[in-house]
Amino acid sequence: MSIPSLAVVQEWTQTALSHLPPPAQQALLHPLVPKALAAMLALGFLRQSNRALNTLSLNNCFSTKWDNARELVLLTGGCSGIGKQVMTELAGQGARVVIIDIQEPSFKLPPNVSFYKSDITNSVTLHTTAEQIRKDHGNPTVLINNAGVGHDGSILDEPESKIRQTFEVNTISHFLMVREFLPAMIEKNHGHVVTVASMASFVALGEMVDYCCSKASALAFHEGLGQELKNWYKAPGVKTSVIHPLWVRTPMIQQLTEAGEQFKQPVMTVERVGHAIVKQVLSGKSGQVILPENYWPASLIRAFPTWLQEKARTVASMDLRRLRDWQNKA
Ligand SMILES: NC(=O)c1ccc[n+]([C@@H]2O[C@H](COP(=O)([O-])OP(=O)(O)OC[C@H]3O[C@@H](n4cnc5c(N)ncnc54)[C@H](O)[C@@H]3O)[C@@H](O)[C@H]2O)c1
Repeated sequence: MSIPSLAVVQEWTQTALSHLPPPAQQALLHPLVPKALAAMLALGFLRQSNRALNTLSLNNCFSTKWDNARELVLLTGGCSGIGKQVMTELAGQGARVVIIDIQEPSFKLPPNVSFYKSDITNSVTLHTTAEQIRKDHGNPTVLINNAGVGHDGSILDEPESKIRQTFEVNTISHFLMVREFLPAMIEKNHGHVVTVASMASFVALGEMVDYCCSKASALAFHEGLGQELKNWYKAPGVKTSVIHPLWVRTPMIQQLTEAGEQFKQPVMTVERVGHAIVKQVLSGKSGQVILPENYWPASLIRAFPTWLQEKARTVASMDLRRLRDWQNKA
């Protein structure tokens, strides 16, 4: 196909313009319009270059093609919410999935999915479960650390047992799971560890401080794991991804979603979030996924001037504060 000359492009532009109403023609002929277009093009170019550099730096220049016969996915917390959706979608793609959950599934498992009841915060019983999984299915090649808990309550009100459980499930279990299943991935220089963190990794809110701390830790865990894989274990074929969803309609936040319009923040469906996680797993690439996608500036928040950071945290916290006041009155 030949490239049209500048004269032809100008002619096309003139013709296209002549079909627009006169006020629109005048607005588009404003001298600032070409500058704005150039700025938009430059921004688009920067964004694409940034994406390409992110992918290159995280993936040590190579990714792995997904093969159902080769992969075995181990998913924690697959009996509810986001985990259940990830399990359903992966199973639908023909992948073999093993779930570890503390609760039994309340639904029929697809034929390529197995369930093991275990508490991921107990290293002794987890080890027994892991041995059984290895015996029954072999070594998992993908580990999705998805199970999580979230409790409400201010720092002074929340019981110590709940604060400890939040850290145990949302952070410590990642160490325990990886210590069980990473060595086999390193040995084969093949695998993927997916950390389901949260938007709370970036923004700490009132009445969920323990949860935010645990999710900031989950992000640090993901980052440090990537460093150890690259620089200690020399296993660039083992990928790492982290997922940061905003609110998702699952049993975990039922108390908030049940408040209906009183809860002012956007809530995503499990389908949307589950699909994004599965896409990342099937890509065979390392990455950081922020959901909704247009919330990506949240990851920069700690680089904002202090007043702006405080404003963002206050706006989000006040939504929870107002909801609590409403609940207390009702
Ligand atoms: N729902 C949201 O708004 C939201 C937002 C951002 C991130 N997340 C994160 O997504 C992940 C999934 O959450 P969800 O919303 O689907 O919650 P959910 O409550 O629907 O599911 C969590 C699952 O984890 C399991 N689990 C909890 N403790 C466990 C333990 N000790 N051992 C084994 N399994 C255990 C539960 O039994 C349950 O099946 C969590 O890590 C959560 O922090 C959720």
